[in-house]
Amino acid sequence: MTQNEDKPDRTDRIKWHYAHRVHPDRAHFDILDWAAPETQQLRFEILTKNVALRGQSLLDVGCGLGDLVTYLEKQNVSVDYTGVDVVEQMVERAEHLHPSRRFECADIFNNPAALDGEKFDVVFCSGAMNLDLGNNLEFAKVALPAMLSHTRGTLAVNMLHARIPAGEPQYFAYNPDYILSILKPLCSEVQLLDDYLVNDFTVIAKI
Ligand SMILES: C[S@@+](CC[C@H](N)C(=O)[O-])C[C@H]1O[C@@H](n2cnc3c(N)ncnc32)[C@H](O)[C@@H]1O
Repeated sequence: MTQNEDKPDRTDRIKWHYAHRVHPDRAHFDILDWAAPETQQLRFEILTKNVALRGQSLLDVGCGLGDLVTYLEKQNVSVDYTGVDVVEQMVERAEHLHPSRRFECADIFNNPAALDGEKFDVVFCSGAMNLDLGNNLEFAKVALPAMLSHTRGTLAVNMLHARIPAGEPQYFAYNPDYILSILKPLCSEVQLLDDYLVNDFTVIAKI
């Protein structure tokens, strides 16, 4: 069975893509299906450079292996971190790698009651909206407000950019104008950053 032949629901589709990749001997960027470690780190750099983080509570949506924790610790940025991911194997590995940090297994896009409706100063989402789910434009209309509902301050989210075809069929690339049209009515301020990688953009949205 190939991914194109199968049409599982969204959560199953995400689990199916990532769960089998998690292995202690495999490089993190490869497990997470980033092109290279440098592009994963550059996305972290863009998120953290553009949002004041020190001392803030931070929700990392689609946290994968918790590599953002490693990045923040290296930068000496102290935050009250919570990572959430829908793939159990990711969460287990993240907990193993960062035992003092909080990780939860949930699909916050699907389940408004996830995390008991808890709010954080900042919500980050790096790469969790990039799989082709068959209905990504509709999905974005649900996922972005769901993430906003978990912050009292700032949402910073990155996505693949439609100016470059997504390449492999399992990915979906977005038009930033479309994403801005969802966020602007819900936010006091929205900033687009699209000059750091040709195939990616970041939106910083303030409640
Ligand atoms: C490309 S990886 C990025 C991981 C991490 N943000 C990083 O950059 O190291 C995408 C992650 O998002 C997670 N993910 C995708 N959809 C999700 C959802 N609906 N809820 C929670 N996690 C999700 C996947 O399981 C995967 O771990």
